[in-house]
Amino acid sequence: MTCALPSLRTPPTVPSVSGDDDARCLGVDIGGTTIKYAVVDPVRGTTVGPVRRVPTPAPATPAAVVAVLRGVLEKLEGAPQRGGPVAGVGVGVPAIIDHGIARSAAHLDDSWIGADARELLATGLGREVAVLNDADAAGLAEVRFGAARDADGTVLVITLGTGIGSALFLDGELIPNSEFGHVWLDGRDVDGWAGASARMEEALDWPTYTDRLQRYLSHLERLISPDLIVLGGGISERHQEFLPHLRLRARVAPAQLRNAAGIVGAGRQAHLGVVRADRLLGVR
Ligand code: BGC
Repeated sequence: MTCALPSLRTPPTVPSVSGDDDARCLGVDIGGTTIKYAVVDPVRGTTVGPVRRVPTPAPATPAAVVAVLRGVLEKLEGAPQRGGPVAGVGVGVPAIIDHGIARSAAHLDDSWIGADARELLATGLGREVAVLNDADAAGLAEVRFGAARDADGTVLVITLGTGIGSALFLDGELIPNSEFGHVWLDGRDVDGWAGASARMEEALDWPTYTDRLQRYLSHLERLISPDLIVLGGGISERHQEFLPHLRLRARVAPAQLRNAAGIVGAGRQAHLGVVRADRLLGVR
């Protein structure tokens, strides 16, 4: 079975196709310090088995990252998966991914910039790979399976981690590479100011951190008037500390897939490619 990269504008709903129910894909979420991955059930939107972690190589050049992922895939293929073999691979990257080409590289080696990430991964892993921005991957999972499930209108998913990622949806359709983590506020890029790592590095108490979030999200609200804001990333585990104190016009909800959203979204995107390729080939 092959896996072709679908358009990120593919509606997140795939009609049920017989045989899909047992599909398994590998979902990978590349971060600055850790690469997280799991086998994903892309139909139910869950991980199958544990989320595993390997250190991101340093420097995180494309070749070094591909080598790590090749090792991951070889290990998985050597061990039978519950529900069958891994049919597709999806990778979320902390970078603008413009038709497969990386146009930025946050917390990765600069040699990613301008590289054909889709081609590099496909060649290195010996199969087609769905590649997308990590926050877009998390957003797709939340819209399809989580806090923004069935939400119409403008939905903004913000991931608060080492950096700040964003995924913007209109009536369930992703507008890729929104990069709202890099808006400027008071003369600074919010990415290093309102992310979860800023809270840790500056040892901010929750009220101070919540105040930063409030200012950041109010600014975004002024720019795009979202109907729903979903807050994700590792910090969403502690949403009780800040979410009830935010005052915004939009509805605000914690991510439901928490830290696994990026993995599930990447696996799901790989699956959409599988389904599409099979249909085009007339297999189903
Ligand atoms: C990057 C985004 C990424 C986010 C979360 C930001 O610094 O610019 O592309 O989605 O971090 O990893």
